[in-house]
Amino acid sequence: MQRQKIDGIKSKFFRDIADSQDEKSLYAVKVKYIGRSGQLTKILKSLKDFSSEKRKMIGPLANQARREFKEAYEKRQKALGEQIDWEEERIDVTIPGKKAEIGSLHPITLVYQEVEKIFSSMGFEIAEGPELETDWYNFTSLNFPFDHPARDMQDTFWVKSTKEKLVLRTHTSPVQVRYMEKRKPPFQIIVPGRVFRNEATDAAHEHTLNQFEALVVGDDVNVGHFKYIAKQFFSAFFEKEVDIRLRPSYFPFTEPSFEFDISCTVCNGKKCPSCKNAGWLEIGGAGMVNQNVFVAAGYPRNKHQGFAWGFGIERLAMMKYKIDDIRWFESGNLRFICQF
Ligand code: PHE
Repeated sequence: MQRQKIDGIKSKFFRDIADSQDEKSLYAVKVKYIGRSGQLTKILKSLKDFSSEKRKMIGPLANQARREFKEAYEKRQKALGEQIDWEEERIDVTIPGKKAEIGSLHPITLVYQEVEKIFSSMGFEIAEGPELETDWYNFTSLNFPFDHPARDMQDTFWVKSTKEKLVLRTHTSPVQVRYMEKRKPPFQIIVPGRVFRNEATDAAHEHTLNQFEALVVGDDVNVGHFKYIAKQFFSAFFEKEVDIRLRPSYFPFTEPSFEFDISCTVCNGKKCPSCKNAGWLEIGGAGMVNQNVFVAAGYPRNKHQGFAWGFGIERLAMMKYKIDDIRWFESGNLRFICQF
């Protein structure tokens, strides 16, 4: 029985050896017959279970087969011009390992979290509003004249609707009015959120952006408070002392209105290529809340004072992580995102 079995294995082995055409298939033959659970290995392993008489008969046969295998293998190896030694166990150390993929947070999310952390520590509440907004909240309640260019098709994504005029909000300022309708001063809030602009994209422009609005309202809130809070926030965010500069500007919903800059975070205001030798970096818009906005929200005219500001998260992220093209953020490119 065992003798026949060994003969059978032998003839199959010689046939497989003759069929092998390269290093890989030759090695596979070896594994099939004398590998850890190879066919001949199984017989050699089972010898211990046989009676001593039987063992004396089968043992030499099996060992003889093993020697013949080795000979045939080496002959074939030479014929194929291959290198794997009979005794060698093959582990291909050149196969690249499998790296476990670990997720990471998007840089915009990281900046959101950081901004929210700093403002929370200063006692600000976080408020939110819808991305699909009515013309009233996005424009009219914020004192935009009906012919204001921001309502133009160039900047705004208008949404077809049967009832009210709807837009994808172009800024986070509509949440000012939404919040004030429900709450009485004093309060201090920040409003994180996505905003949309109907414009061509390039390295500095995106159609979908993230903004932070801040709104502080009380009885005697003034521009000095704004400058102080802005200085505290940007110094904490960039982990260095930052100066604030205001330049006169115009927004329908603030009076007076400003553009505000921070001292260049690369050269600290000494002028360098990053700030185009200005010493300052443009950050966003700000101003004292226009009394018409308070009235639109249902507050009495001239009873309260407050400041508001808005700035882009992308710009902060680009400065913080030295990213040169705003389009990376919405690109969905994992090689970009996984760096953070
Ligand atoms: N909403 C303005 C913008 O998106 C920024 C701004 C907010 C200006 C608050 C003044 C006050 O451009």
